[in-house]
Amino acid sequence: MIWFKEFELQDSSVSLLVSLGCCFAFAICGVLETLHHKENGGRRIILSPQDIYNHLIKTKKENKSGCSLFTTVNWVRDNGCVLEETCPYKGTFKPASLERKPYLRITASRFINLTQEVSFSEKDKVLHKELQLAIRNGPVAAQMLWIKEMSRLKGDGVYSGPKDATAFGTPTDQLRHSVIIVGYGQERKNNQVKNYWLIRNSHGKTWGDKGYGKIDTAPCHGRLLVECACIILGVTYEKPNGEPY
Ligand SMILES: *[C@@H]1O[C@H](CO)[C@@H](O)[C@H](O)[C@H]1NC(C)=O
Ligand SMILES: *[C@@H]1O[C@H](CO)[C@@H](O)[C@H](O)[C@H]1NC(C)=O
Repeated sequence: MIWFKEFELQDSSVSLLVSLGCCFAFAICGVLETLHHKENGGRRIILSPQDIYNHLIKTKKENKSGCSLFTTVNWVRDNGCVLEETCPYKGTFKPASLERKPYLRITASRFINLTQEVSFSEKDKVLHKELQLAIRNGPVAAQMLWIKEMSRLKGDGVYSGPKDATAFGTPTDQLRHSVIIVGYGQERKNNQVKNYWLIRNSHGKTWGDKGYGKIDTAPCHGRLLVECACIILGVTYEKPNGEPY
């Protein structure tokens, strides 16, 4: 198993039981905090998922469904991230403050749509390989299908999807969830080989294996569980007064 240790993620969002619909903001902040740690000699910062949430979620309907990873990354590219201390986590949407001082911005990212390879053979999965390579350098934010039974996931076995295809929603009510991929690997058990993504969830330490879970990379009823990922390729830092860091 490739398990990305050197620039370990901060513990905050694993220990915290994040409200539904806030996952996308936690996934991006977690990845950016780790990138900052790596690029700044191990110095830690805590970014504010609440600030992203306040700006992207404005109605009760959006509060329930959350926001896509793609939209979140583009928003952080255009608007930057502020520090947690200036906008602490509340777990529900608040009117967005007009006065915000971005600490960093995303300058370059690469969106990987794994579903394009849903029917490919292992050797032809170039996007899967590209994502594995990226994970060797650090954690990557990803978006997956969310099946209700996943809330009860326990232990360190690989989750391969629901037995019954109806557990997936219809195209209009299918739930999606954002997480951080921190590794990948292969499980061999009872003559079965399963390739998996090791994800860090934001549902507290009692979920899965101390907050982490292994998700099969193979399709289930013709659908991938982890559908897409966004690799952050560059960030710029800004001083609180807006000057470059
Ligand atoms: C948003 O959803 C959370 C549950 O995920 C709930 O606790 C909160 O009250 C909701 N906020 C609004 C304004 O609807
Ligand atoms: C990913 O690719 C699939 C298959 O080509 C396509 O149907 C889907 O819309 C794409 N998703 C995104 C978010 O671009």
